[in-house]
Parts: sequence; structure tokens; C-alpha cells
Amino acid sequence: MANKELNKKPEELTILLPGGAGYIGSHTAVELLDRGYKVVIVDNLSNSSKVAIDRIRQITGANDEQLVFIEADILDRPAMDKVFTNYSVDAIIMFAGLKAVGESTQKPLEYYWNNVGGALTLFDVAREHGCKNVIFSSSATVYGEEAQVPFTEELERGKTTNPYGETKAMLERILTDFYLADDEWSVVLLRYFNPIGAHESGLIGEDPKGIPNNLLPYVAQVATGKLKELGVFGNDYPTPDGTGVRDFIHVVDLAVGHVKALEWMAGKIGTGEPIGRGSYQGPVSEDGTRHGVGVFNLGTGKGTSVLEVVAAFEKACGHKIPYAIKDRRPGDIAVCYAACDKARDELGWVAQYDIARMCEDTWRWQSGNPNGYEG
Ligand code: NAD
Ligand code: WQD
Repeated sequence: MANKELNKKPEELTILLPGGAGYIGSHTAVELLDRGYKVVIVDNLSNSSKVAIDRIRQITGANDEQLVFIEADILDRPAMDKVFTNYSVDAIIMFAGLKAVGESTQKPLEYYWNNVGGALTLFDVAREHGCKNVIFSSSATVYGEEAQVPFTEELERGKTTNPYGETKAMLERILTDFYLADDEWSVVLLRYFNPIGAHESGLIGEDPKGIPNNLLPYVAQVATGKLKELGVFGNDYPTPDGTGVRDFIHVVDLAVGHVKALEWMAGKIGTGEPIGRGSYQGPVSEDGTRHGVGVFNLGTGKGTSVLEVVAAFEKACGHKIPYAIKDRRPGDIAVCYAACDKARDELGWVAQYDIARMCEDTWRWQSGNPNGYEG
């Protein structure tokens, strides 16, 4: 069956967001709705809340036709079939997945089953309904621990260090193989660096269940007094202050990157030149829709250390963040930041927000919602 063409007005396109109730998906839904796209969110709420959907409506004013929410598991094939039968989905932005690195080493079967099995179920149903346009949430983790900064799309995928990371590498390969076997597939692999921050309204943000694994949610909960002190994992790395350096990117910048990827796929922007190793330039539909595989980093290109983040957050919240130096966390690398020129040149996308703004927006969300969406 032929693939859906995308070079239409946003109002004429329906974008499916599996995992769209989550952190990055909810911010992407806002950016899509603000530009007139119709959005269908499918989420099993395993790591999110239905309140996020209400908040998306509050921010965008979207009605029930513009934004549809379906509580379902992507592994539930009949439920997915119903979604594609009831809605004429033009493209998928695939966020659904489990994402805790440490947990993935304890529960590899659950991670491979959910992330890979779930994606395969969904893509198979999508294909049956003639939708072969996929933007995939990949990660800088696919570059592996040996890669030298800045990470460019020209680098080979490296050796992953945990099952979570391996699900990302596997799905990159799987989606590429789909295209190589059938050149109607249109795939964009977006490799996120470290997303933080929240929508400026303070109504949506990151709401991890239990004790946070990642730096920013942890710092934010120390700032509200919910947690006592931050453990800084190592201060003997070969970095200016000895602490780990990461490329933190504002989640709204990241969300806008997805809109750009969709416009690129539709042939509305960019040249369609193959982007980096593992990318392919395929046939172009009559309307300009591009087929192939595009690979883009989404980062700022700037590294910020753990202690620099603490200082920026102290400024944002107006008081000290207690911290103690701990041992290095196994599996961490010293420095990670992106080369961003491909996304700039081809997608016309450059991150706008700096670390100060990222911390201010995180603080607005966290102080307004100290217990996340649960009140
Ligand atoms: P998140 O946990 O907030 O969002 C993922 C959503 O998927 C959740 O709402 C969860 O309920 C849903 N989900 C999980 N399994 C599902 C299933 N079987 N069926 C239906 N829904 C399911 O995470 P996020 O930070 O928004 O990440 C979104 C995507 O981006 C994930 O694939 C993640 O691996 C990837 N990613 C995230 C980061 C990051 O640091 N946050 C970095 C790189 C890549
Ligand atoms: C950042 C820095 C820590 C917590 C992870 C995944 C990666 C991607 C993004 C999905 C490191 C230090 C942290 C704390 C600390 N996710 N830290 N104390 O590890 O760069 O990336 O999320 O794809 O795959 O691995 O992010 O926020 O956990 O850590 O000192 O309590 O903060 O050591 O240097 P990371 P992070």
C-alpha cells in the first residue's frame, strides 16, 4: 500500500504521538497544536498522567477534534488497529518507551518487550493502514562510550552500555531496514541529548515517578525540600571542575525540532541531502514528500557541568542547593555534547534557550507542582 503524503497544510494532517502524555511528547503536542496540526495521543500512562492531557488543552485551547487522547498500550494490537481505523494517521512521532537506564539492566526482558516489541506491533499496524512515516525518539546514547566529542551524525553507532540504549540502537536499525526493503518508508531518527526544562506556562513538565534518576528532576526536588541533598556523581573527571559535562537542551527547543523534522519529511524545508552515516535519500513523491532515512542530533552543542547546573539552578530558585560529592556512577561518561550543524543546515533548527532559562522554567514547573501532576 502506498504511503501517506505529507506536503499539506497542518490542519489537514493527523499526527499520532504514542507516548504523547509523557515529558517530551506533551511538549511536542503543544508545539504541533499551536501550529494547527491534529494530534492523537496514545499512552498507557505507565509513566505519565492524564492530567498532562488536560494541561495540553489548557495551554493550546485544543478541542476534542484537534486533540484526541486514547489510553492504550502499543503492545495491544487490536487497540492499535482501532486507532488507525478511527483516525486517518498521516505520520507517527514515536515517544512510547521505558527509559530508566538503571532499571533496564535489572529488567531487560521488560525493556526489550515494551520498547522493541511495542514499536514493532505499532509499526506493523501502521503499515497495514498505509502509514509509513515515522519520527523516532532516539538518543545520544547510541554513540556509545568511546565516541569523541562533539558527537557528529557521521560517527558510527557505538557499543551501547545497557538494554535501554540497545533498544534505541535496535530501533534505529529496524526502521532503517524497513526503508531499505521498501523505499516508501520515510524515517527520521532524532538523537536527543539531555532534555530538561518545562513549558513557560509552568503547566507541563517532567514528572518522574519515585526518586528521580536524572540530574535536573533531582536538583529540582532538592530545591523544593522534597529531597535532602544532591549526590554529585564524581568530581575527578577530566573536565574543568571535575564533574560530568552534558549537552542540556530545553524541552521546548526539542519539541520544535520534531515539528521541523516533520516539515523536512514533507519536503517543506531543507535539501533532503542524506544526513550523516546511516542516512539515505530516497524517492520523492509528486507532492514533495521525502522518503529515506534522516539522522539528526538535537542538542545545543554546548557542554555544561553538573556543578554549573547546580549554580544555575541556585540562581533560578534563589537559594542554595545542598550537595555532596559521591563516587562516580557506573556507566557514566565524562563529557557528552552534540555537533548541531546538520540540524541547523537541513532543518533550519537551532536551540534558542540557555541553561539559565532551562533552570528557570524547571523551577516554575517544580515549585508550582511540587508533587507533579498528582497535586
Ligand atoms: P516519558 O516516560 O515521560 O514518556 C514516555 C511515555 O511513553 C510515557 O507517557 C509512558 O506512559 C508511555 N509508554 C511507555 N510504554 C508504553 C506502551 N507500551 N504503550 C503506550 N505508552 C507507553 O519519557 P520522555 O522523557 O518523554 O521520553 C520520550 C522518548 O524519548 C522515550 O522513547 C525516551 O526513551 C526518549 N528519550 C528520552 C530522553 C530523556 O532524557 N528524557 C533522552 C533521549 C531519548
Ligand atoms: C547527567 C549528569 C551524572 C544524577 C541519561 C541517559 C541517556 C539519556 C538522557 C535517554 C551525569 C550527574 C545525575 C544525580 C549526578 N536518556 N548526576 N547526580 O546520564 O547524561 O543521560 O538521560 O536516552 O541515555 O543515560 O543524564 O541526568 O542522569 O546525568 O551527579 O543525582 O549528572 O553523573 O554526569 P545522563 P543524567
